[in-house]
Amino acid sequence: KKWFAVIGDPIAHSKSPNMHNAWFNEMDIDAAYIPIHIKSEQLEKAVFSLKTLGASGWNVTIPHKQTIIPFLDELDELAEKMGAVNTVVRQQDGKLKGYNTDGSGFVHSLEEAVGKEHKQRAVLIIGAGGAARGIAFALQQYGYTNITIANRTISKGIEIVNELGEGQAISLKDAEQQLDHFGIIIQSTSAGLANSEFSLPLSLEKLQEGAIVADIVYNPLMTTFLLEAQKKNAKIVNGLGMFVHQGAIAFNYWLGQYPNTNLMIKRLTEELQ
Ligand code: ATR
Repeated sequence: KKWFAVIGDPIAHSKSPNMHNAWFNEMDIDAAYIPIHIKSEQLEKAVFSLKTLGASGWNVTIPHKQTIIPFLDELDELAEKMGAVNTVVRQQDGKLKGYNTDGSGFVHSLEEAVGKEHKQRAVLIIGAGGAARGIAFALQQYGYTNITIANRTISKGIEIVNELGEGQAISLKDAEQQLDHFGIIIQSTSAGLANSEFSLPLSLEKLQEGAIVADIVYNPLMTTFLLEAQKKNAKIVNGLGMFVHQGAIAFNYWLGQYPNTNLMIKRLTEELQ
């Protein structure tokens, strides 16, 4: 029997075990997926133990996405660029390889919702944290060439743009004023999270007609940001697709099969509504 895990601190809230175990059931795969609570100071021993106990792979979540890298044998190109890993695969030779499926999960979700024909649009990413960085690198890899990052702390936006080797970094105020310039807008901060202290990173007053507006938050499914965008008739994409697709891409790395994402998104939508 194969087994998989997700490691993080905290971990109890994770929806990954339910999702992966449901896919195993659906696809008649004899495997199990368990959550393991690992504190930062235990990380090295935890990786060694997972390897010794024969886990076929695992997901990595906050706060270990960066710090796990020294304990892995190889890194996928995108994970190396991002400096963060959310998926570990134990290869046939026993070596541990790190991948990052968060950003690609976002792009898969976006393209499933609106198609692949918008790569020429000007993209605005709001936020410059780990999530924004992953999304920016993945968008670049999938052929989106016009990327702007707006952040409260501009220096963090500039850092990502420098690593990308293209694009520009602006302030939230400037983004607000130039909003009609952007055809795809991605909200990547914690704004609108169920327990967040702020709900809207910038005003959508100048939103372009026909713009696509995405949020990475999925609890709640409809953030204040998406509600505002919907009022302005934008095509909206909530964060649930990103979560399900990052899991599906990881699943595919582990087992060489792509699970049913549509059904899972429907099921989790009902749960979260
Ligand atoms: P993640 O890894 O989920 O991206 P993070 O790295 O902590 O999380 O990044 C959080 C993002 O939300 C940052 O872009 C942060 O802006 P700063 O870089 O200026 O800190 C943004 N953010 C958090 N609280 C905010 C607030 N009250 N107003 C505007 N932006 C905020």
